[in-house]
Amino acid sequence: MKLHPEGKIVILTGAGVSRESGLNTFRDADGIWAQVRIEDVATPEAFARDPEGVQAFYNDRRAGLCDVAIKPNPAHLALAELERDWPGDVLLVTQNIDDLHERAGSHNLIHMHGELFKARCEACSAVHAWRDDLQVSSRCPACGQSGGLRPHVVWFGEMPFEMERIATELESCDLFLSIGTSGSVYPAAGFVQEVRMAGRGHTVELNLEPSEGRDLFHEHHHGPASEVVPAYVRSLLKGAARR
Ligand code: APR
Repeated sequence: MKLHPEGKIVILTGAGVSRESGLNTFRDADGIWAQVRIEDVATPEAFARDPEGVQAFYNDRRAGLCDVAIKPNPAHLALAELERDWPGDVLLVTQNIDDLHERAGSHNLIHMHGELFKARCEACSAVHAWRDDLQVSSRCPACGQSGGLRPHVVWFGEMPFEMERIATELESCDLFLSIGTSGSVYPAAGFVQEVRMAGRGHTVELNLEPSEGRDLFHEHHHGPASEVVPAYVRSLLKGAARR
């Protein structure tokens, strides 16, 4: 595939890109959904029924992400390098709520499923940077109400963030990369289909194993993200330099 160096690249990442940084995926054998049920911790109904339990689940994950051992891996670093050195536009859309892409140096980034290090007030809608535990009694720094703060993450049944902007970018991209995602959660799982329907972009899957949407991709590279992503980025940047 020959991509014009001015070409627009859209990248979707999932939990697999952070696996080698020490964060669990969701649907692998040792994944998060093998340990807890989605219905108990990741729906608005679960939060209404058991706010303490839901806050405790995200407090644990937030504390885990503060561990000094959790760092960006070569896949995160390669994607930041691609954004820096590619002559055209590069947009990174992540389903991950960790901040490893930012720590690696990515800037043009959409967290479509929200961010673990943010809290949102259901009373006044203010979004706050938040690194400590959230309690049911935590007070919103903007409106002063307690009881309304929740993790700024998208739960099952809620609309992911920035969907209109993402749709526009998918339609006009020249290259779409899907990295470290099982392709089992919509709308992200449908992005490859949107690119195919627009009839323009080349689609590439970089994943440990074939995803559910594997047949929709023009090209596949299977292996650990820390190996296949830097190798693929190197080949793209080499191609741009030769032109
Ligand atoms: N390198 C590359 N890919 C990997 C690696 C690795 N080291 N380890 C695992 N993978 C792959 C798995 O093979 C799997 O296909 O990453 C994928 C992870 O899939 P999921 O666990 O389903 O995670 P994801 O696709 O991000 O889930 C989507 O589901 O529960 C929700 O909100 C949650 O954002 C999440 C969404």
